[in-house]
Amino acid sequence: MRLHVADHPLIAHKLTVLRDERTESPTFRLLVDELVTLLAYEATRDVRVEQVEVTTPVAETVGTHLASPRPLVVPILRAGLGMLEGMTRLLPTAEVGFLGMQRDEQTLEAITYANRLPDDLSGRQCYVLDPMLATGHTLIAAINFLLEKGARDVTAICLLAAPEGLRTLDEAIGDRGDVTIVTAAVDERLNEHSYIVPGLGDAGDRLYGVV
Ligand code: URA
Repeated sequence: MRLHVADHPLIAHKLTVLRDERTESPTFRLLVDELVTLLAYEATRDVRVEQVEVTTPVAETVGTHLASPRPLVVPILRAGLGMLEGMTRLLPTAEVGFLGMQRDEQTLEAITYANRLPDDLSGRQCYVLDPMLATGHTLIAAINFLLEKGARDVTAICLLAAPEGLRTLDEAIGDRGDVTIVTAAVDERLNEHSYIVPGLGDAGDRLYGVV
């Protein structure tokens, strides 16, 4: 597993406003959107491309196009939905699949309650959107799901990550797949409720209000 912490002053600025408990939902949503676009720029550094011929008003030349098959963007419901537009702004031709995952409160394992993905992901580059990499269980389940369907490589974009979750993820994935995590910051730790510290609280609640 590779880890890329996107180190940029604009990312750090936006993240700090997101962390602030006084930031209300409308501003929070807007900032998540902007932050994801910046993270997406970093996360797509290895997106597959091919060379194409193009005729400019002046001459013929060779340029670059995204290659087929198109990348697949997979927001994990619910909070990952708040990251979708920020991602597709940079990758408008990507296909979008959805995974609904929640924690089984007895076993603490992630269970999949919704799945809208193509059956065969052979050769596909997948970009998973999950704002908070806390224990890592949800992301492990999502990445395993995609790799089992044949995904070629998986990049997860997270606003924040905890060291505990990164370790668990690294051990769980091992060398079974080509996996990259792109995040704005790695925080200190998880608290006893598995919240990231200092974190930004419950990302889903802050995006959409408490349900
Ligand atoms: N999910 C969140 O929304 N926040 C955390 O801190 C951990 C998991």
